[in-house]
Amino acid sequence: MNRVKIGIVGTGYIGNVHARIFARDERSEVAGLFDIKPERAERTAKSVGGKVCASREELFENCDAVLVTTPNKTHTEIAAHAVAAGKHVFCEKPFSIGLSDAKKLLEIAQNSTGVFQVGHNRRYAPVYAKLKELLKEDRAHSAHVKMNRGELKNPIWTGDTNVTGGFLYETTIHLLDMMRFQFGEIAELVAYGSQHEYPELDEFSILFKFKDGFHCTFASSSDASWHFPFERIEVFCHHRTILTEEMEHLIDSREMDANFETFSWAMTEKDERWGYVLEDKAFIDAILNKTEPLVTALDGYKSVELVETVYQAIKTGEKIKFD
Ligand SMILES: NC(=O)c1ccc[n+]([C@@H]2O[C@H](COP(=O)([O-])OP(=O)(O)OC[C@H]3O[C@@H](n4cnc5c(N)ncnc54)[C@H](O)[C@@H]3O)[C@@H](O)[C@H]2O)c1
Repeated sequence: MNRVKIGIVGTGYIGNVHARIFARDERSEVAGLFDIKPERAERTAKSVGGKVCASREELFENCDAVLVTTPNKTHTEIAAHAVAAGKHVFCEKPFSIGLSDAKKLLEIAQNSTGVFQVGHNRRYAPVYAKLKELLKEDRAHSAHVKMNRGELKNPIWTGDTNVTGGFLYETTIHLLDMMRFQFGEIAELVAYGSQHEYPELDEFSILFKFKDGFHCTFASSSDASWHFPFERIEVFCHHRTILTEEMEHLIDSREMDANFETFSWAMTEKDERWGYVLEDKAFIDAILNKTEPLVTALDGYKSVELVETVYQAIKTGEKIKFD
């Protein structure tokens, strides 16, 4: 069997995470690397191999599938270019910035003959897969969700809204996507936001109501601390609380006498614990088996729509209903 040749555009932090995973999968090889800072591509090539290319065009000539692992604002243009070149595409989150670009990329992705997968890795994290499994056997009534960051300083562009599209696109979008994955489609939301440490809205409180009546509160701060767990979901069911801490633990507490069971992935390697290994395996599976990935372009589009809706709800002060 021929290995799937992976080409990586952007060999920074997350490009290297994916590079080492694809290099380990016997069904794929890192064939090409392109970065506007060539020394970064050269460094990656030293550890996982692959041809350091001088342009995207040269990279596309050397690969079957393209990873878009550049800063947020570049995703739409690079992903569209890769689809036009006939490549399978793995596009890191966010899918796009703004509804207009997101619609354009959705149409391009849906007309592509190749696979188009979006990098919402948390769907593949064992802790969130377990939560989804447990919620199949019980009906969730409500939840409290938080997703914080300690700073918007590293990488340096994370504090620049011209690059990120705003904090919600950079970090919070992970758990906004998780809302739909765990609890289904959203019917309406209200949101409040304020500005403190950075020249953008950096603190958020959101109230969601879902189509099946489930509802939840959602808090997200970009200027909290890195105190563990900076992301957490607490779900309340019939005399039952299911609690996730980061991607390390899930505590399932049932009945009225404080019984609980703990599941832990704390000792699991980070690339697996955060879902990256299964996410990348799923990309190769989808290419080889011609199947749809778990996180599609439509999911990517919906996560952008959610971000934009939260910003709009804050701006207008109105409750917004989804069609
Ligand atoms: N899914 C996740 O858990 C996760 C984690 C981190 C980052 N991300 C996302 O991945 C993307 C990259 O983040 P990062 O932390 O790796 O950033 P980074 O700054 O570490 O790396 C980005 C790389 O892209 C290169 N680059 C910039 N513009 C380019 C262009 N037009 N063509 C080619 N190369 C270009 C930069 O030189 C840099 O090496 C962002 O969109 C971020 O939101 C996702």
